[in-house]
Amino acid sequence: MSLESVLHARLGAAFAAVAGAPVDPVLRRSQHADFQADGALGLARRLGKPPREVAAAVLAADPLDDLCAATAVAGPGFVNLTLRADVLSTMVAEMAADDRLDVAAVEPETVVVDYSAPNAAKEMHVGHLRSTIIGDAIVRLLEWLGHRVIRQNHLGDWGTPFGMLIEHLVDTGAAADSSVGELSDFYRAARRKFDADEEFRERSRRRVVALQSGDPRTRELWQVLIDRSVAYVGEIYARLGVTLTPADLAGESTYHEQLASVADELERRGLLRDSDGAQCVFPAGFTNRDGEPLPLIVRKADGGYGYDTTDLAALRHRVTDLRATRLLYVVGSPQQQHFRMIFAAGREAGWLTDGVRVEHVAHGSVLGTDGKMLRTRAGETVKLTDLLDEAVARAAEQVRERHADESVAPAVGIGAVKYADLATDRLRDYTFDYDRMLAFDGNTGPYLQYAHARIRSIFRRADAEPGDVVIAEPAERELALVLLGLPTVVAEVATSLEPHRLCAYLYGLAGAFTAFYERCPVLRAEPEVRASRLALCALTARVLALGLGLLGIAAPERM
Ligand code: ARG
Repeated sequence: MSLESVLHARLGAAFAAVAGAPVDPVLRRSQHADFQADGALGLARRLGKPPREVAAAVLAADPLDDLCAATAVAGPGFVNLTLRADVLSTMVAEMAADDRLDVAAVEPETVVVDYSAPNAAKEMHVGHLRSTIIGDAIVRLLEWLGHRVIRQNHLGDWGTPFGMLIEHLVDTGAAADSSVGELSDFYRAARRKFDADEEFRERSRRRVVALQSGDPRTRELWQVLIDRSVAYVGEIYARLGVTLTPADLAGESTYHEQLASVADELERRGLLRDSDGAQCVFPAGFTNRDGEPLPLIVRKADGGYGYDTTDLAALRHRVTDLRATRLLYVVGSPQQQHFRMIFAAGREAGWLTDGVRVEHVAHGSVLGTDGKMLRTRAGETVKLTDLLDEAVARAAEQVRERHADESVAPAVGIGAVKYADLATDRLRDYTFDYDRMLAFDGNTGPYLQYAHARIRSIFRRADAEPGDVVIAEPAERELALVLLGLPTVVAEVATSLEPHRLCAYLYGLAGAFTAFYERCPVLRAEPEVRASRLALCALTARVLALGLGLLGIAAPERM
């Protein structure tokens, strides 16, 4: 059991003994002791007693002396706890002996994670980068905790743009050798024709109808475009070290056959209303500025279906067929209202019941150093491949300057990009700044990778093995306490879906390690002390590697 769960359980029981009912001890790390429990404050109000008296009663109910060297009632009624050094030593040794580093596997749940979801036949841009990186960190962490995670890449592979794209494919004859060239150029060229040429527009419209009604030749041409796009995003995923594979594709087109049945089911439940010829759901509680109810368009006036219906079908599929009890949508904040309405409609339709949790895991945008949306100097959206090339090139430069092995440049460059994204509270916009993300100091990917590699290098130089852990020095205590905090932060991220908390933890760990390494000689220490300190080094390296791994970031052995 983790240190915090042990303390939580013991204090919880002591509080319950005083209250005669379960009470949250409100345990947290403290500046004045190792931990403090603030639960007496709330409980005192309930019992109508002075908080310090309640805190004292808690310690009388359980003096905790098998765990603590000192306990005290402090301030308005906090219970301060200072742990025994031998308890810390034992717990660190237990953590080191555990493959899972004390992070217990949880009761498994089926979780669907919708992430990445770029649009086919378009260049994947930085907007999709965040969803891809954040989503992948979330699936890695949930999977590692023992959940059954189903990745769903809701690729934008259907709808009106494919009419013009297929017609352009026919015109350019590219269908024959199935070479479409650069996807973004192809898309732009089709778009230019569409805007300029009425005849082309008309053909494109007819082509959409042919696609939707399953015309075989049209489907073939469509497949050419999809295959190209899937190959292209696959290359990006491989470069990024993202776990998505073609098996995780569940693009908009996969719901095509279910859309009519979704509309029918909504109709049967009396949820469809006519609005200017379109059939819509108006989920309760959503209105525009003038107080008029807002629609989800289920069937357009021309009989077609769009983004809203597809998301309703996806929701139904995920709950009914995939049997998920937690649904996550890692999509940018601008779609917040869309998802709120989809979830509300899903509840009204009876698909989302109390046993299913659904969350829009929203994120902010990527900004340039000028504080505006990231664009090239020519004002175009930046291509992801160019961005990654540049990050790796700059990482190579840095690695050369440090006289380190250049083969780590891709791991450092890609790691820097991913870490910069993950270390920011996902709801906030983040600034894409090569200099900052590639710095070897501060809360960055390279700093943590280096912290890990530096510890590994100690073991290359040591001709001694880790041994029994004996926590003695203050810097050892502090490092031990941070190490033992791993299970808590992992559990926290599984709930809040905020990877930046794991980043902050790892950064704090690297800091605690640096302080320890400055104050406590390792290789020069007496054999027993050396063995203990090597054990702390080894455990720190494992926690750093695990944490980076959960974030989807490589931890090279040497840098
Ligand atoms: N392809 C969409 C876009 O680029 C994102 C899809 C997100 N997922 C979903 N289930 N709607 O905006």
